[in-house]
Amino acid sequence: MKLLAPSILSADLSNLAQQIRLVEMSGADWIHCDIMDGHFVPNITFGPVVVKAVKKCTKLPLDVHLMIENPDLFLEDFRNAGADIISVHFEEVIHLNRTINRIKEIGAKAGVVINPSTPVSSLVDIAEYIDLLLIMTVNPGFGGQSFISNSERRIKEAVELRKSLKANFLIEVDGGISSKNISAISKAGCDVFVAGSSIFNSDNISAAATELKNLISK
Ligand code: DX5
Ligand code: ZN
Repeated sequence: MKLLAPSILSADLSNLAQQIRLVEMSGADWIHCDIMDGHFVPNITFGPVVVKAVKKCTKLPLDVHLMIENPDLFLEDFRNAGADIISVHFEEVIHLNRTINRIKEIGAKAGVVINPSTPVSSLVDIAEYIDLLLIMTVNPGFGGQSFISNSERRIKEAVELRKSLKANFLIEVDGGISSKNISAISKAGCDVFVAGSSIFNSDNISAAATELKNLISK
C-alpha cells in the first residue's frame, strides 16, 4: 500500500481547514507537518499549537517531521497535540535508540529522517527498531526545491537494508516530489510520498493530489 502525505508547509494557512479537507477528499493518507525552529534548519514554521489545530481538522494520521534542535524536549508536546508519527533527524539526536523507544512509549510511531548527505548505511543499527525511514530528497528547510538526483539510488539502498535486516519500516521521501518523478520513485521501492508545493501551489489542489495518488497506486 502506497501512501500520499501532503505537506501543509505550502498550504494557505489562512484557509487550513478547507485545504486539508480538499486533500483528504482527494486521496491523502497522512497529513505531513513540518516543524522548523530556525536552528536545525534556517527557517521557522509552527509548533504543537498548530498541530493541535490540524488534528481538529482531520481524521487522517498526522506525520510530524521535527527539524528542530533537542527534539527529545518536545516529543510529549507533539504527541499530546495529536502527532501519530513522530520523526527525528539522525543528524541531531545523540541517543537515537533511547529517543525511538521514547516515541513508542508515548504511543506514536517512530521515524528517523536522514539528510541527503547522510549515508543510508548509517542506519544499520537502528533500522530494526523504527517504523519509518524518511529519506530527505532535498536539503531540509524549505518547500519548492528540486529533487536531488541520487535519491533514487538511496531509496534502493534502504529497500536492501530493510530486506537484509528482515525489518519492516516504511520508506518515505520528502522534497521535490511531483507528477514528473513520483512514478520512478515509487518503482524504486518508496512507500510514503510527501508533497507540498506540487499539491498546494497548484491551481487545482484536488486534481493535483488525485494525480499523485493515481501515479503511486499504479
Ligand atoms: C522541507 C520539508 C518538506 C517540504 C516539501 O524541509 O521537510 O516536507 O514541505 O516541500 P516540496 O514538496 O515543495 O518540496
Ligand atoms: Zn517534511
